[in-house]
Amino acid sequence: MKIRAAVVREAGKLEIETLELGQPRTGEVLVKLIASGICHTDSSALYMQVPGKYPMVLGHEGVGIVEEIGPGVRDLRPGDHVIMSFPSCGCCEECLEGRPYACDQSTELFFHGIYADGDRRITDPSGEKVGALFGQGSLADHCIIAERNAVKADPEVELKALCSLACGVQTGAGAVLNKMKPTPGDAIAVFGCGAVGISAIMAAKLAGCGTIIGVDAVPSRLELSLECGATHVINGRECPDIAGEIKRLTGGKGVHFALEASGAPALVPQMLAGMRKEGLAVLVSFLSGPVELDATMLFVGPCISFAGTVEGASNPQFFIPKLVQFYKEGRLPVDKLANYYSFEEVHRAFEDSKNGSAIKPIILFD
Ligand SMILES: NC(=O)c1ccc[n+]([C@@H]2O[C@H](COP(=O)([O-])OP(=O)(O)OC[C@H]3O[C@@H](n4cnc5c(N)ncnc54)[C@H](O)[C@@H]3O)[C@@H](O)[C@H]2O)c1
Ligand SMILES: [Zn+2]
Ligand SMILES: [Zn+2]
Repeated sequence: MKIRAAVVREAGKLEIETLELGQPRTGEVLVKLIASGICHTDSSALYMQVPGKYPMVLGHEGVGIVEEIGPGVRDLRPGDHVIMSFPSCGCCEECLEGRPYACDQSTELFFHGIYADGDRRITDPSGEKVGALFGQGSLADHCIIAERNAVKADPEVELKALCSLACGVQTGAGAVLNKMKPTPGDAIAVFGCGAVGISAIMAAKLAGCGTIIGVDAVPSRLELSLECGATHVINGRECPDIAGEIKRLTGGKGVHFALEASGAPALVPQMLAGMRKEGLAVLVSFLSGPVELDATMLFVGPCISFAGTVEGASNPQFFIPKLVQFYKEGRLPVDKLANYYSFEEVHRAFEDSKNGSAIKPIILFD
């Protein structure tokens, strides 16, 4: 079938093209898109800052309605609402042990535009194959996705509100709920209050954290952080000693947990110096450069752990329905992060994401 899709062929250039989408193969479904979020990783793929293979259709936070199912699809039927998440092979050791976010093939499946059989599903008019970011390519009116990466959504909830659960929110909320697992009363600092950071703040509130500190440089994002659960905020550009301020806010002790979601290398030593003894700091951002650390001073004496994780260490088939339930209960108000655009406005949506005026741009399809 013919589709309209946002394709990257050269760095920084996104064009809406008419392309040919094949049939869903074994274990795959064809989805009519209702909406797709734009995540920081789409911008990185647009500028070819990921280990990608091009041309590629962007988009990996799609929600839509199943139109057709391929052979062997077990749980999805035409008409089902789905939230599409990150791909995983399903048969490596990590996948079999329930850690699909650490799949052995994640680099290829996330960034090379291929599906688990190594092939692509889209062709352009010249016959060249076109990849789909995250085995999804959701910046298009239709896409094909493996059933294992599509989570059936509660039909009572308006789909367009749920896009960001697929990646950004899953990453931030999952880093807190799946990786840190705070106990009520624990203190946490979140560096970078974008879609990932603010969803971590929402999750910290949900988990009953006591002191929740948001660090950013944009006043409107700090205000929104307070609205979403932060008990304190720090303007990282104005504060000369962020770690000292965190210690002050926690009675001199520091935070039990910290999340780095800003991408700014300079914040990492500040984050680690603001930890309480035996604390856990988690890095999810793609830092814009290397960091120099006095590792002995920062880790050994204070007994601090520093970890990284992908997609909030989550298994989307279990975790996304939980996030939908939290959203329904008003405990994960992700619609506060959303700005909506038509497909024709996709360039402006990327621009607004880059200049910081939109936290979670969402493209709506007719
Ligand atoms: N590990 C994963 O699986 C995964 C998944 C999704 C996104 N990410 C990454 O997580 C990061 C956050 O994603 P996002 O979509 O929330 O991005 P974003 O750009 O919306 O948010 C980053 C925030 O950090 C703030 N910031 C940047 N530099 C700062 C500084 N020096 N001082 C204070 N604040 C500063 C910005 O103002 C912004 O609010 C990105 O690097 C993204 O690529 C990782
Ligand atoms: Zn795998
Ligand atoms: Zn993403």
